[in-house]
Amino acid sequence: MDKIRIVGGRPLEGTVRISGAKNASLPDICAALLTDKPVVFSNVPEVRDIRTMGRLLSDLGAQVDFRVGGCIEVKAANLTSVEAPYDLVKTMRASVLVLGPLVARAGKARVSLPGGCAIGDRPINLHLQALEKMGASIRVESGYVEASTRRLRGTEIYFDTVTVTGTENVMMAATLAEGETIIRNAAQEPEIPDLADLLVKMGARIQGAGGPTIRVEGVDALHGAEHTVIPDRIETGTYIAACAIAGGDIEIRNCQPAHLKAVLDKLRETGIRIEEGPENLRVRAPRTLKASDVTTIPYPGFPTDMQAQYMTVMTQAAGTSAITESIFENRYMHVAELQRMGANVRIDGRTAVVVGHTPLSGAQVMATDLRASASLVLAGLAAKGETIVDRIYHLDRGYYRIDEKLRGLGADIERITERGLADRRAQARAPEPAGTAE
Ligand code: EPZ
Repeated sequence: MDKIRIVGGRPLEGTVRISGAKNASLPDICAALLTDKPVVFSNVPEVRDIRTMGRLLSDLGAQVDFRVGGCIEVKAANLTSVEAPYDLVKTMRASVLVLGPLVARAGKARVSLPGGCAIGDRPINLHLQALEKMGASIRVESGYVEASTRRLRGTEIYFDTVTVTGTENVMMAATLAEGETIIRNAAQEPEIPDLADLLVKMGARIQGAGGPTIRVEGVDALHGAEHTVIPDRIETGTYIAACAIAGGDIEIRNCQPAHLKAVLDKLRETGIRIEEGPENLRVRAPRTLKASDVTTIPYPGFPTDMQAQYMTVMTQAAGTSAITESIFENRYMHVAELQRMGANVRIDGRTAVVVGHTPLSGAQVMATDLRASASLVLAGLAAKGETIVDRIYHLDRGYYRIDEKLRGLGADIERITERGLADRRAQARAPEPAGTAE
């Protein structure tokens, strides 16, 4: 199993290009199930979750062609199955995003319940309640959701809790429903208007995506389209945090600063200098970072997907900061690993108290989920000596070649196998050959 090896202490310089957004590409690709015509995507990140979604759609009978440079064509002319099996869903919760399109297009779906997750319970009750309100009969049996309907009916949906994939599932389902659907307390993350843009290009009638209330007027059928996925705002935030903690001066290209306002505002409060261009950012690290409290809340608030990376930055800030995670009940798995590197972090219920500035030392650490693994890579950039991050399959789920991109910015980082590491260690221990001491 690959690992990432980092030797810290090098400031970052140069330019990094941001990939397309994983969390926009996943629902976008599922939307192709709503039509029998081809849908062509560009700027799709070549990360593992996208491959998994491609495999799921192929299992449903869609033709999925991955082309070079982040292009994918999906053609769901004939659906041969409506089942999302446990073996796939357990590896990627976002598989639940086939539920809405399948019920709307095929009138039925059998989707495995995702089960537990490292960062929290993450039930899908709100997705099911909404589809039931739209007229689907829903049964949960043997770990699977069985949904069926003659045709969905438009209705008013109010989400008790803001849910991103819940909003996406209902918005997709409503495009082929009879009548109008109104989604209230909808998620406003940029991935939602990106999906709505695609659906409108496919012939859907949608208003208000990106705001708290979305209106969808159902149509009888949708057609094909071409769509360029938005840049990944969380990947962008991760590179800003990398520069903040390692020091340096970098340019981030192919990003969308407008999608990151809360993150940029918060990071500026800590002393990071950030200049915004239309699709790029220049980031300069301060001599000393300032501590600043934060609470994760739904968009346009500070994203939970930046919490772990922000915590790592705060371990190097002057002062004490309080980080409150309000979205997921168990999203502090990275804390114990950061403590192994010398960080001074104490968890008190939903709040983590970070006492900065505590020098970090390199260590062998273990990734537990996607964003936690990114925070450990950042910690390695600032730590004294060598850090080895294990279980980086978590990282590869959502970051495109992060080691290469950071190396392009001057970091001493590489992907290494168990064997490669053992050889490296053996070399380091090998006595100098006679006569080389002088
Ligand atoms: C999306 O997950 C993202 N995933 C997550 O990113 C992100 O952390 C999350 O939104 C919040 O921003 C994708 O887009 C694929 P939610 P999602 O439904 O939709 C509760 C990453 O790192 N809830 O908005 O699954 C839930 O438990 C990933 O890229 C219910 O109670 O999150 C949570 O506390 C991790 N019942 C809250 O709502 C439901 O039916 C928000 O979850 C649905 C959600």
